Amino acid sequence: MNLNNYIENHKERFTNELIELLKIPSVSADPAYKEAVLQAATFTAEKLKEAGCDSSEVIATKGYPVVYGEKIIDKNLPTILVYGHYDVQPPDPIELWESGPFEPVIKKSALHPEGAIYARGACDDKGQFYMHVKAFEAMVAENELPCNVKFMIEGEEEVGSDSLGEFLETYKERLSSDIILISDTGMISRDIPSIQTGLRGLSYVEVEVTGPNRDLHSGVYGGAVVNPINTLSKMIASLHDDQGKITIPGFYDKVIELSAEERSAMAEVPFDQEEYNQHLEIDGVNGEKGYSTTERASIRPTLDVNGIWGGYIGEGAKTVLPSKAYAKISMRLVPDQDHHKITRLFTEHFEAIAPVGVKVKVTPHHGGTPYVTPIDSIGYLAAEKALETTFQKKPVPQRGGGSIPIVALFESVLGVKSVLMGFGLDSDAIHSPNEHYGLFNYYKGIETIPYFFKYYTELSKEA
Ligand code: BES
Ligand code: MN
Ligand code: MN
Repeated sequence: MNLNNYIENHKERFTNELIELLKIPSVSADPAYKEAVLQAATFTAEKLKEAGCDSSEVIATKGYPVVYGEKIIDKNLPTILVYGHYDVQPPDPIELWESGPFEPVIKKSALHPEGAIYARGACDDKGQFYMHVKAFEAMVAENELPCNVKFMIEGEEEVGSDSLGEFLETYKERLSSDIILISDTGMISRDIPSIQTGLRGLSYVEVEVTGPNRDLHSGVYGGAVVNPINTLSKMIASLHDDQGKITIPGFYDKVIELSAEERSAMAEVPFDQEEYNQHLEIDGVNGEKGYSTTERASIRPTLDVNGIWGGYIGEGAKTVLPSKAYAKISMRLVPDQDHHKITRLFTEHFEAIAPVGVKVKVTPHHGGTPYVTPIDSIGYLAAEKALETTFQKKPVPQRGGGSIPIVALFESVLGVKSVLMGFGLDSDAIHSPNEHYGLFNYYKGIETIPYFFKYYTELSKEA
């Protein structure tokens, strides 16, 4: 297989096209960006067609559309479905960006001597799904496409993929495939390739605590009327005990504990606590007792406040006893926790701990089911061989902490398993200001993907 010349000769254009895509502010969470989200969909569909799809289209859903494209070369060959998302997270806090979030620039750094592209979505997930479009282009151009390919690039991953369950049901036939290939996760480091073998599930809720019917003078009423912000803070603080365990009754009932063997395999994965602290400028970590940092961030469930507000937050001081307090809370889930059940347990518990003087309201947002991939499937083995070819090192299997809600749906609705072959780095600052994606990672991905196609097709024939 020699696509390297093709990739080498077209590298610059591959980067420039990604830069064009990154200029489109396709923020799915904020309706103000609606036109841009739709524009990103159209751009993606056009690029799929140009790259060599027989056809591509923008398919409407209840939410943002899905971009679909395919190239079927022979019905008897395997079909790989590539999934990704063209929507991005909001750029906030905008003042912390060193360059505009939608004005991509290439900057060099110690970690990225070849340069990295700085823009919202550079790594998550525009840069990563676009590697697939370009790898596909190279395979088609050089007559090296070994099997059928379908692309499904969605536009509301960052807001929970709510319309996608229905989409999968409706287009089941069209999406039929043997394996789903996704680059929307990370690897350990530039020289340690890894394959994610799991994703956490999610239950996301918003809470509202109401005290008096209006904001009050905090001198006239303070001390006598229950303050909803004080109360909410206390309620939130009580959700963890001093061992770092979540106190919601029944929360851990379905959690699968890993065997001692699995845990010692995890402990083999290279990890440096000192370096981790330094990167984050923290003087130490703390979490659930009895588990390592890596375990806490992957195989254990969590509860985190994502935002909290209420009362006066403007300039200067205003004396006020607020009427309401709010928080957004996410719980990351692990097998076999069920997000519907966890949302219900949270709601019941939160209502039960509300003291006299306040009313609470819990509104569920989105949910997602945890996912674990088998490491003896041909999908995993093909990814392993592909990464071993381009990195000259066997990749390390690694359970991840993030969530991609559609992956469990792929399995339950389509009956197809996913392989998470991601090329991002933890330092890429996804969801944060100054998100970036190394050109090294981008080109490495483009170089590695065709090997996945090749080995997957070969291994399918043997099976
Ligand atoms: N690509 C991420 C998920 C991810 C990142 C997995 C890094 C593993 C490593 C995805 O775009 C994401 O951010 N998902 C959300 C899901 C949510 C909005 C439903 C998440 O994990 O917060
Ligand atoms: Mn993503
Ligand atoms: Mn994301």
